[in-house]
Amino acid sequence: MRLNKFLSTAGVSARRKADEIILSGRVSVNGKVVTNLATQVNEKKDEVAVDGKRISLPLSFIYLKLHKPKGYACSNNDEKGRKTIFDLVDLPERLFSIGRLDYDTEGLIILTNDGDFANKVAHPSGEIEKEYIVKIEGDIKESELAVLRNGVVIDGERLPKAKVKVVGLQKDATRLSVVIHEGLNHQVRRMFEAIGKNIKLLKRVRIGAVRLGGLKRGEYKPLNQYELDALLLGY
Ligand code: URA
Repeated sequence: MRLNKFLSTAGVSARRKADEIILSGRVSVNGKVVTNLATQVNEKKDEVAVDGKRISLPLSFIYLKLHKPKGYACSNNDEKGRKTIFDLVDLPERLFSIGRLDYDTEGLIILTNDGDFANKVAHPSGEIEKEYIVKIEGDIKESELAVLRNGVVIDGERLPKAKVKVVGLQKDATRLSVVIHEGLNHQVRRMFEAIGKNIKLLKRVRIGAVRLGGLKRGEYKPLNQYELDALLLGY
């Protein structure tokens, strides 16, 4: 396996950044500093270290989908000491989340101990669709839907276009499906803020071909082979 893939899989950094780390002389293989980017390592035998600290690959890979409830942070170590999604998963492995959801957002999140997979799936070039159900107070006009679809301008920045449709009408609320490709900070909340709408619920229900399905809040289960292939191949 190429050294940058080894470092990426172990969760050190994405491959390109791993190349920079190698070039800066921080990586050693079997005790010798290597700066050649073409270096291959045998993950079963070779001892790889970054800044003198031994790095190893997981014995087996884990890929999970989790229904994140509202009120959980997605960071490994929340600086405010709040509960995190990792508290919900009863496994000894160190896991990474692929992308994040806001503290107050619920829904689908993918977790893995395979850093290279996480970096590949999260890379913007994959353009994987993310679908959200948004519940807003009151109704929404056709002209407001058009603004969301064309990309709202907020604080001088134009947010990307989105696929938006109304999926349910209630007495005092409207439910919409919103599909975006990016994962910009607070992207969906900012879209609705720009048209003056108050979000009551924000829930991610799909990432590419992976659906939240019947998972209850706080529940998780392994991705199946179809879901894994779909994420890697981008469909
Ligand atoms: N958009 C948001 O505004 N928040 C999320 O958590 C996800 C998408």
